[in-house]
Amino acid sequence: QAESNLSVTVVGASGDLAKKKIFPALFALFYEDCLPQNFTIFGYARTKMTDEELREMISRTLTCRIDKRENCGDKMEKFLERCFYHSGQYNSEEHFAELDSKMKQKEGGKVSNRLFYLSIPPDIFVDVVRCASGKASSKNGWTRVIVEKPFGRDAESSGELTRSLKQYLAEDQIFRIDHYLGKELVENLSVLRFSNLVFEPLWSRNYIRNVQFIFSEDFGTEGRGGYFDNYGIIRDIMQNHLLQILALFAMETPVSLDAEDIRNEKVKVLRSMRRLRLEDVVIGQYKRNSKDGKTHLGYTEDPTVPNDSLTPTFAAAALFIDNARWDGVPFLMKAGKALNTRRAEIRVQFRHVPGNLYKRNFGTDLDKATNELVLRVQPDEAIYLKINNKIPGLGMRLDRSDLNLLYSARYSKEIPDAYERLLLDAIEGERRLFIRSDELDAAWSIFTPLLKELEAKKIAPELYPYGSRGPVGAHYLAANYNVRWGDLT
Ligand code: BG6
Repeated sequence: QAESNLSVTVVGASGDLAKKKIFPALFALFYEDCLPQNFTIFGYARTKMTDEELREMISRTLTCRIDKRENCGDKMEKFLERCFYHSGQYNSEEHFAELDSKMKQKEGGKVSNRLFYLSIPPDIFVDVVRCASGKASSKNGWTRVIVEKPFGRDAESSGELTRSLKQYLAEDQIFRIDHYLGKELVENLSVLRFSNLVFEPLWSRNYIRNVQFIFSEDFGTEGRGGYFDNYGIIRDIMQNHLLQILALFAMETPVSLDAEDIRNEKVKVLRSMRRLRLEDVVIGQYKRNSKDGKTHLGYTEDPTVPNDSLTPTFAAAALFIDNARWDGVPFLMKAGKALNTRRAEIRVQFRHVPGNLYKRNFGTDLDKATNELVLRVQPDEAIYLKINNKIPGLGMRLDRSDLNLLYSARYSKEIPDAYERLLLDAIEGERRLFIRSDELDAAWSIFTPLLKELEAKKIAPELYPYGSRGPVGAHYLAANYNVRWGDLT
C-alpha cells in the first residue's frame, strides 16, 4: 500500500524487551521487505534521549539473526533513518498529543495506520492506552495496541484489566501477545496434526496415553527477581505459554483457519478443562549450588527477592480435559528455571499396540516400548517419532529408534524470531495468534483457585539445586497417573 502510512510506536523503548526483541524484529521485517513503503518507528519512554541516541541504542543492541548477512549495514542505515524518539510520561495526554503531531508530520496527510507496542509494566497499561487512544490514535486508518503479559494476577484482576482497556479500545484493536504462539514449531503443530493421515485419526484418548508440555531454562531469574517474585512460574509460563500450546494441541478441528474459528475452538477446549487442585501440582524453588566450578546463588539470595519468598520457580501439574476426545488423558506440564538444560518441547506418548506380537522382546513393561512423538520447540527445532525397530542381524532384537526431522538439516532457511511473525500479523490485522479476552478468562479460571490456595496456605516449594533436574516430587506426580516424563528417560 504505497499510499498509506504505518507508524509503530514502541512504548517503553528503553526497556529490555524493546531492545532485545522488538526493534530487532522490526528491523528483520524491514530487511525482508515486509513493512509498508511508508513506515515510521517511534520510541516512547520517560528517559530523555535524542533521535540519534535512540538510533545508537538500537544499532548497539541489534542482536537479531539478520546482523550476520551481507548488506545488513546499508539496510540498517535506512531503517534507522525512519526511527524517532519522543520522551514523555506514561500518563500524560499532553505528551501523547506531542507524539501525535510528530506522527502527523511524517504521515504528510495520507491515511495513517498506527500500532502501539506496550513494552511496559502492567500497572501503567491503562494510563498509556487512555492517553494514546485519546490523543494519538489514527483519524483515518486503524489503531491497534499490542499488550504483553502479565494480564493480571488472577481471574479478577485480569477481568478488571480487560474492562479498563475496553473503555478505550474495541476488542479487535487489542492484540494480546503470547510469543510462544509465534514459534515455528508451535505454528506447525496444527499442520502436523490436521494434514497428516498418520496423525489426525490418532489424536484422541483412543491412541494417546498422555501428553507432556515441558519448558526448562538453565538460568535463574537473575535481574528479573522483582517482576518474577510477584508472579511465579505458574503465571509466568504455565497459565499462558504452555496452556496456549495445550489448547492448540487439544482443540477440535476448527471450521476454517480464520482467527475466530480457531479461537472459538481454543476457548471450548479451555472451558472443558478441570480446575487445577492442589494435589495435581508440585512446586519447587531453586537453591544455591556449585556447578562447573561456579557458585550459583539460590532464588531467595537474589537481592530483589524477599528472603522468605515462597514463590515457585518450578512447577509440575497434571491437567484434564473433560470432553469426549480426551476423557481421562493426563496432560502434564512442567516448567522451571535454573534447571540443567534449556528446552521447550511437546511429547505425545501413545498407547501400546494391543496384543503386541513382540511383547516378549519388551519384557513386562510394554509402555516402555510405545511410540512417542516429540516436537522440540527449541533449541534445535525438530520433530521426531520414536518407533520400534529390528536391529539388523540374524537374531530378533528390537531397538527404539527415531524418525527424525531436524529442521537445520532439512531446511536451509533461518527460522524467524517469534516476535517477527507476531508483529507482522498485528500489522496485517491477522488475529489468529493473539489471545481473545474470553480465552484469557477461560485460562485464568483453570489456574486461579489453585494460585489462591497456594498463597493462602503458604505452601512451601520443594527446594532443588540450581542446575539440577528439578524436584523429585515431579516424578511422583507423574507416577500417580502412570506417566514417566519423556525428557528424563
Ligand atoms: C517469558 C517469560 O514470557 O518467556 C520469561 O516471562 C521466559 O520468564 C521467557 O524466560 C522465555 O522465552 P523464550 O522465547 O526465550 O523461551
